[in-house]
Amino acid sequence: MSRKYFIITPRTIRELIFSYPSETGRELRMVPGLPLIGNLLQLKDKKPHRTFGRWAEEYGPIYSIRLGHSTVFVLKDLNDTSLAKEAMVTKFSSITTKKFPRAWKILTAKSMVASSQDTMTDNILRSLHTHAMENLLEPVNLREICKLEIFGLTLKQAFGKDIQSSLYVKGLGKTFTRDEIFNILVIDPIVVAIDMDWRDFFPYLSWVPNKSFEMKVQHVTMRVQEVMKTLFQEQKKRISMGEEVTAFVGLLLSEGTNLTETQLIKLIWETIIAGTDTTLVAIEWAMYELAKNPKYQDHLYREIQKVCGNSKYAEEPLAYLSAIFHETLRKHSPAPFDPLRYVHEDTQLGGHDIPAGSEIAINIYGCPMDKEQYDLPEEWRPERFLDDKYDPAGLFNTMAFGSGKRACAGALQAKTIFCTVVGRLIQDFEWSLKEGEEDDVNTGTLTSQKHNPMLAMITPRDNSHLSTGLA
Ligand code: HEM
Repeated sequence: MSRKYFIITPRTIRELIFSYPSETGRELRMVPGLPLIGNLLQLKDKKPHRTFGRWAEEYGPIYSIRLGHSTVFVLKDLNDTSLAKEAMVTKFSSITTKKFPRAWKILTAKSMVASSQDTMTDNILRSLHTHAMENLLEPVNLREICKLEIFGLTLKQAFGKDIQSSLYVKGLGKTFTRDEIFNILVIDPIVVAIDMDWRDFFPYLSWVPNKSFEMKVQHVTMRVQEVMKTLFQEQKKRISMGEEVTAFVGLLLSEGTNLTETQLIKLIWETIIAGTDTTLVAIEWAMYELAKNPKYQDHLYREIQKVCGNSKYAEEPLAYLSAIFHETLRKHSPAPFDPLRYVHEDTQLGGHDIPAGSEIAINIYGCPMDKEQYDLPEEWRPERFLDDKYDPAGLFNTMAFGSGKRACAGALQAKTIFCTVVGRLIQDFEWSLKEGEEDDVNTGTLTSQKHNPMLAMITPRDNSHLSTGLA
């Protein structure tokens, strides 16, 4: 079946109002929308995963919507058949390409590395101990402490070196602090990538200029490129002077000889942006839940004590900590909404015909919220992942990292960083939420970051000398 163009006919009106006709006889319901723009306005709050979840309650696990010119089939997981996995794994050959938003396409190209996070965790713990010594009665903003440390780790993996306190960027004629560099490389691109460009939904109108949007994207892209170019050239110079750089940049310079400098820079930057915010979001939500639930926090502390005794927690596999990781990704999926995917050839999903030329949306957030699959899915209960049906060492017990050949390239690294940081935070401190924080569960936009940073009270535990070095 060919791509569907939007012409108002009685049939399209029927499609808009009622359902998508299926040749197998299994009717797919269509969410009613407006002529021409379809359901775009219903998604303007930029939390499509939540809207999709609500629609799934009414229209079932697979239904269709119209986003301007495109027909999109929205899927979520089911208890007996995994529709999302069917789309991402079994039918991969028919649905391979991701449809990245226009801004994201300009910002990215296509990768990954790994390294030790000991220094990073020590630095986080050091800041918390200083806070506890100087301001014990003041709440701590964990995000503020962790963000530049996690950013520093991804920079080290990318370039073999973190930025010192500031960086002079010749192309921008200015010196930037680490905080400003974090905003340029991570926050600004995320903000612009989730801005909606209506041309994503009306490809036949892509010649129409959208000046303000384009200028915003160009400005963000130019700043990313100039900062990355400065960092890249610094490391290239080190390498040319014979220094051994065990980082992604070294690997790319020796292996990626047919790539241009711009392509190399974009590949390196992708690891920085994909790895920083997602991991930070997961750690903050886990600490929020643990601070709110002393019962779970004690359970984890006892597990760490039992295994590590008087030594610092350092990546030992702990079943309960692993369950906390999976439950946090289930309930607070840091990337709740996967980019749309193109359907290249006619295929079937869950027994329904899906025509070539349409698109599918996989609601990662909606998958683990299935009441049939999880008892009380709205509740954060790590013990559900202690069940034998889950692999304690697994990475893909939920759909949070996607699935199949295009799944997250940094899943193992994300789990290692998450477990090391959360394990050490609980080993050294007792956490509780600042009064009034319990109900502050609003999220930001596409990454599910907690809208307001968690504010928590911390009390050093008896064994905190492990980090401070005090006997
Ligand atoms: C808790 C943390 C993380 C979560 C929840 C997460 C989630 C995801 C998801 C949902 C995708 C899309 C997968 C799909 O379409 O099937 C993805 C892709 C990707 N992630 Fe992650 N991610 C995390 C951490 C990381 C880290 C630490 C890195 C690297 C340092 C990373 C690198 C990537 C890359 C390179 C891709 C693109 C893969 C492709 O399109 O082929 N991620 N991630």
